[in-house]
Amino acid sequence: MMTPKTPTDSLTILTDMVLPSETNPIGNMFGGELLARMDRAASIAARRHSRRIVVTVSVNNVAFTKMIPLGSVVTIEAKVSRAFTTSMEVFMDVWIEDRESGKRYKSNEGIYTFVAVDEMGQTVSVPPIVPESKLEKQRFNAALRRKQLSLVIADKMDPLLATELKALFIKE
Ligand SMILES: CC(C)(COP(=O)(O)OP(=O)(O)OC[C@H]1O[C@@H](n2cnc3c(N)ncnc32)[C@H](O)[C@@H]1OP(=O)(O)O)[C@@H](O)C(=O)NCCC(=O)NCCS
Repeated sequence: MMTPKTPTDSLTILTDMVLPSETNPIGNMFGGELLARMDRAASIAARRHSRRIVVTVSVNNVAFTKMIPLGSVVTIEAKVSRAFTTSMEVFMDVWIEDRESGKRYKSNEGIYTFVAVDEMGQTVSVPPIVPESKLEKQRFNAALRRKQLSLVIADKMDPLLATELKALFIKE
């Protein structure tokens, strides 16, 4: 068995500013630009966890809750929240820095899933993960039902077998 890792082992922090070419017609960051930055940060986190080539298999959730104006300094913090057999869920927190006070506020979160592959693109196993903090444990515990939801939506899992997901709705 591979040596377990912690979410902190994969911590990846990506800080960059928003340039004019990355904004929409009302001067806020274009959503696709943020998605691409998140994909980059998350893939580095998944690579740090697995020490393998990783590919994005699913963007599970991104909510754009706050506008990010031109010139903002955007920081993405990515960590592997749970490792399964060959796949890893990466949870991201996105922060914006106020120019004058330097205070940070959360603009959104995102959850992506990556799969580790070899040079031929064949899936390979990844190390297990042991969450440490309270938040890491919450994210770890919820990751299985998110995986099941993603697989059900992708028509890769029979909903009747999605026991963790079903437990949210049906008390047996
Ligand atoms: C990722 C890829 C290698 C997976 O191949 P596959 O034959 O579907 O492999 P599997 O069915 O064994 O799935 C591999 C893992 O991904 C998980 N997975 C597959 N689809 C998923 C989805 N939609 N959501 C969450 N997890 C998913 C599986 O549950 C499995 O996880 P586990 O081994 O940890 O239990 C293949 O689909 C691929 O190459 N996709 C393209 C990736 C890519 O190019 N990404 C960039 C897009 S531009």
